Amino acid sequence: MNAGIVGIGRFLPEKVVTNADLEKIMDTSDEWIRTRTGIEERRIADDNTNTSDMGFAAAQKAIQDAGITAEDIDLILVATVTPDQPFPSVACMLQERLGAKKAAAMDVSAACAGFMYGIITGKQFVESGAYKHVLVVGVEKLSKITDWNDRNTAVLFGDGAGAVIVGEVSEGRGILSFELGADGTGAKHLYQDEYIIMNGREVFKFAVRQMGESCINVLEKAGLTKEDVDFLIPHQANIRIMEASRQRLELPVEKMSKTVHKYGNTSAASIPISIVEELEAGRIKDDDLIVMVGFGGGLTWGAIAIRWGK
Ligand SMILES: CC(C)(COP(=O)(O)OP(=O)(O)OC[C@H]1O[C@@H](n2cnc3c(N)ncnc32)[C@H](O)[C@@H]1OP(=O)(O)O)[C@@H](O)C(=O)NCCC(=O)NCCS
Repeated sequence: MNAGIVGIGRFLPEKVVTNADLEKIMDTSDEWIRTRTGIEERRIADDNTNTSDMGFAAAQKAIQDAGITAEDIDLILVATVTPDQPFPSVACMLQERLGAKKAAAMDVSAACAGFMYGIITGKQFVESGAYKHVLVVGVEKLSKITDWNDRNTAVLFGDGAGAVIVGEVSEGRGILSFELGADGTGAKHLYQDEYIIMNGREVFKFAVRQMGESCINVLEKAGLTKEDVDFLIPHQANIRIMEASRQRLELPVEKMSKTVHKYGNTSAASIPISIVEELEAGRIKDDDLIVMVGFGGGLTWGAIAIRWGK
C-alpha cells in the first residue's frame, strides 16, 4: 500500500506587513532584507487569531479537498512550535472543533522541519494499515514569539497554516522515500527563550549542507536521479538557502517553489502553503516527481520524494 497526499488546504492571515513597514519600526532596509533573504512581505495574524484558528481553517479545506468527513480521520498530527498553550495540544483542539471524534491527536515539535516529521509519521500509520486517514497540519503564529526589537530575526518570519490528509493512493504514486534527521548538538543555534534566538550564520551553513544532502539521499533511496525530478518544494526560509538546494539538483529556476517573498518563513507551514500555491498555479501535475525538504531548530531536517496524485 502506498501513502500519499489525498487532500490539501491552507490559511494565510490577511494582514500584510511589508519590508517598508518594518523599516519604520527597526533599523533595517527593504534592500537588506530582499538581498539577504528574498523576503518582500509576510502575513501576520491579528490578536484574535491563534495557532489553532489558523490550523482549523487549513484543516477544514484539506478535509473537503480529500472528499472525506472529519469523522473519517484516524489521527491528527499538528506540527507547531507556537501552540496556543503548552497543553492541551493544538491537535486536541482541532479534534474537538472539527468533530473528528475517533481521531487520536498529538502535536509534533520539530520546528521548521515539523511538517516533514508529521507527514512521514502519518505515512507509517497508513502504510502499516493501522489508519486510513491522517490529518497533518503545519501551523505557526511565530509573530507571538518574535522579538520585534531584534532585526536579526524579526524580518524573517510570518504566520500561516497548511494541512494535508495522508491516505492511500494508487500504485506508483505517493511517498516513495523519506529521510528524517536531527542533530541536538546544534540546538544552541536556534531556540526559543522568551523570543526566538538565532545564530543566523550557523543555521545558514547547516541548512545549505543538509538540504542539498537530503534531496540527494531521498532520490537515491527511491532509485531515482536528479534528472527524474520535476519540481522542488524546499522549506521557505531564505532564497539563498533554497537556491543552493535547487543548484544541487541542477533544476531550472521555474522548477522550484518560491513563496518566501510573499509569506516569509512560516516554519512548519511553509511547505504545505507552497504546495497549494503551486497547485493553484498549475505548476504541479499528477505523476510529477516532487522533492520536498525542510530543516529547522533542533536542529532537525526531513525530506521526501513523492510521486504526485491520488
Ligand atoms: C539571518 C541571515 C539572513 C543573515 O544574512 P547574512 O548574509 O548571513 O548576514 P550576516 O549574518 O553576515 O550579517 C550582516 C550584517 O547585517 C546586519 N543585519 C542583520 N539583520 C539585519 C536587518 N534585518 N537589517 C539590516 N541589517 C541587518 C547584521 O547585524 C550584520 O551586521 P554586522 O556585520 O555589523 O554585525 C542569514 O544568516 C540566514 O538566513 N540564516 C538562516 C536563518 C534561518 O533560515 N532561520 C530559520 C531556520 S528554519
